[in-house]
Amino acid sequence: MITFNEKNNILKLDTPSSSYMIGIYNCGLLLNLYYGRRLPDNNVWPLSKRLQSASFSPCAPDVTDKEFSTDVAPMEYPVNGRGDFRLAALSVMNKDGNTVTDLRYVSHTIYKGKPDISPLPHLYTEDPAQCDTLEITTRDPYTGVEAVLIYSAFNDCDVITKHVLIKNNGENSVSLRRALSLCVDLPTMDFDLITLYGRHVKERQLERRPLAHGLQGIHSKRGASSHSHNPFAALAETGATEEHGDVYGFNLVYSGNFEIGVECDHDATTRLVMGIDPTDFAWHLSPGESFRTPEAVMVFSNEGLGGMSRTFHRAYRTHLIRGRYKTEKRPLLINSWEAAYFDFDTDKLISFAARAKELGIEMLVMDDGWFGKRNDDTTSLGDWFVNTEKLDLARLVNSVHEMGLKFGIWYEPEMISPESELFRAHPDWCVHVPGRTPSIARQQYVLDISRADVRENIFGQMCAILKKHKIDYLKWDFNRNISEAGSALLPPERAQEFFHRFIMGTYDLLNRLTTEFPDMLVEGCSGGGGRFDAGALYFTPQIWTSDNTDPIERLMIQFGTSMCYPASAMGAHVSACDRTGYRTKGDVALWGTFGYELDPNKLSPEEKEIVKTQVAEYHKYYDLIRNGDLYRLICPWDDAFRSAWSFVSGDKNECLVTVVEMRKVQDAVFHLKLRGLDPGKYYINEADGETYSGALLMYAGVDLTQKLAGDGKSLKLYFRAK
Ligand code: DGJ
Repeated sequence: MITFNEKNNILKLDTPSSSYMIGIYNCGLLLNLYYGRRLPDNNVWPLSKRLQSASFSPCAPDVTDKEFSTDVAPMEYPVNGRGDFRLAALSVMNKDGNTVTDLRYVSHTIYKGKPDISPLPHLYTEDPAQCDTLEITTRDPYTGVEAVLIYSAFNDCDVITKHVLIKNNGENSVSLRRALSLCVDLPTMDFDLITLYGRHVKERQLERRPLAHGLQGIHSKRGASSHSHNPFAALAETGATEEHGDVYGFNLVYSGNFEIGVECDHDATTRLVMGIDPTDFAWHLSPGESFRTPEAVMVFSNEGLGGMSRTFHRAYRTHLIRGRYKTEKRPLLINSWEAAYFDFDTDKLISFAARAKELGIEMLVMDDGWFGKRNDDTTSLGDWFVNTEKLDLARLVNSVHEMGLKFGIWYEPEMISPESELFRAHPDWCVHVPGRTPSIARQQYVLDISRADVRENIFGQMCAILKKHKIDYLKWDFNRNISEAGSALLPPERAQEFFHRFIMGTYDLLNRLTTEFPDMLVEGCSGGGGRFDAGALYFTPQIWTSDNTDPIERLMIQFGTSMCYPASAMGAHVSACDRTGYRTKGDVALWGTFGYELDPNKLSPEEKEIVKTQVAEYHKYYDLIRNGDLYRLICPWDDAFRSAWSFVSGDKNECLVTVVEMRKVQDAVFHLKLRGLDPGKYYINEADGETYSGALLMYAGVDLTQKLAGDGKSLKLYFRAK
């Protein structure tokens, strides 16, 4: 719900349990007055002791409150060069060559529903009643630039989204130097900053640090959201835990370069800004042109990090993931990559499918190596036609379908190998800048899909395969960072638009693909989880989480990923890696989309029996895991020995608990307290038939003393309400 208190000039956004308040202050300055637990009040001005002057800090001369400084006030969308010396959200270079920017309130509108901001990915509603939207128009009186701040407050979850539409309504061209999506100014710095750092095969490791005065934060200028940092951050009040305390979560619906900057000032307040990373960004706006920032998502929870995550999960399942596979059951797949790498032919893949079928697997995915002359990673990206020397695609697809399995294929559409027909024909189609030879990574260049003609070519090649053969699934990979970022088509004054134009090119291709082939399941991937973000999830309902399939190392990766992203999004496979037995591998992979990444011909008879059991469990727990609420019971960053998590169904009638003993513990007593159950209900433990109250399971815990059998072993418990 969104209301305007005309008497006090306060705009208030309410979600079921949170409130966000914006004040229209002296001379139209917009202030970020409150964000947190839901308040019944519609006036918080008496709280705003922050509206005072700071010595040395100037203020625009027309502001009549001479006690006011933008430098210490909570600014709603802070600008550069007008007396606020903290991180700015907007910085516009004007015709005179300076970046002094000044935005003042002009008007606002409130309406039901949420605008469609395609081609940018965004949260959506299926019914306008699910959400209300506020648009505040602000204007810079000197340049004529307008910034429309667009907020949507959801009525079915504690989510507020925000983005900004910047229009050049002046008479001269301007250049955007920073155009961020979000700013929150909180009146304390008693927070821990929680972020997810990583690298290839070690994605989304949780890091928690107390805020300090000055700048801190994360960013990516790699051309993708990246393995290194995820466009997610949380501010958790000091002492907040998994289930207790105030937590603010922030996530950008964007797959390109991003910045999350946090600054604590001399008054010990906290500013967090989020949006496109300004390092390699500028956007030229001629008169009449506009620029829309990506959408930012804010979640407030007073039920700790777990509450924040569950809100993100529900919101993304309901308002972000789209298409047939938003609700339809996803096929249980086997992928050829770790089974064969580039070394396969038609018969080998048919044999994988035949064995997989016997085990109950539902789809064969042919990974990298099927096209051009691709027998290793040195050639052929861009040559998306079948390598007929190693493959008869029609025979393969038909055989797999005749077995009753679905068939999936791998692409890396945004790349070009120097050793390819495409590169020989179009050497200027690779991402490059004049005067410098492009750097190479994994033997490949990046393809300039900011260009419409390049996209046309790639889409045409993809359609030729996808229309000829019945392809049920496509894995979309992206295997290097972008350097020498530039396009042959961009003039110098637009050269710094490249990174954003590139990712918009990716979105355009994904949009065309999913529109043309609505029944095909598309899985995102980037050398594992290098582009695991909400922007990608809008197009691809599942994303490969990591190339690391070791179940113990996967725990940290999956726990970290779950901060923001739901189980239904997390690609997770059982592989032949030998750290643990198949049971633990299956129990860990069950958290995600579930599948296999191994040669099924090499499984022993005992292993095959375990796989059959896992396939049955996949079906049994499918709804509970995909649609249930996640509780992180023991996190690997808190405990070096055990991890535990559970899924509880929305009606609290079912609960699946998984515990993994990473390293054997000699403790005599281990009671695991469950969460999220109904204390008044009685639950049967499927393993022993005993009945326990929800209260007992949560307040006393399940006695697991000596129930775990040692290093790398796992255990599952399933409870159903009587
Ligand atoms: C990186 C992906 O993460 C892998 O699963 C696999 O598809 C390879 N690329 C293929 O090159």
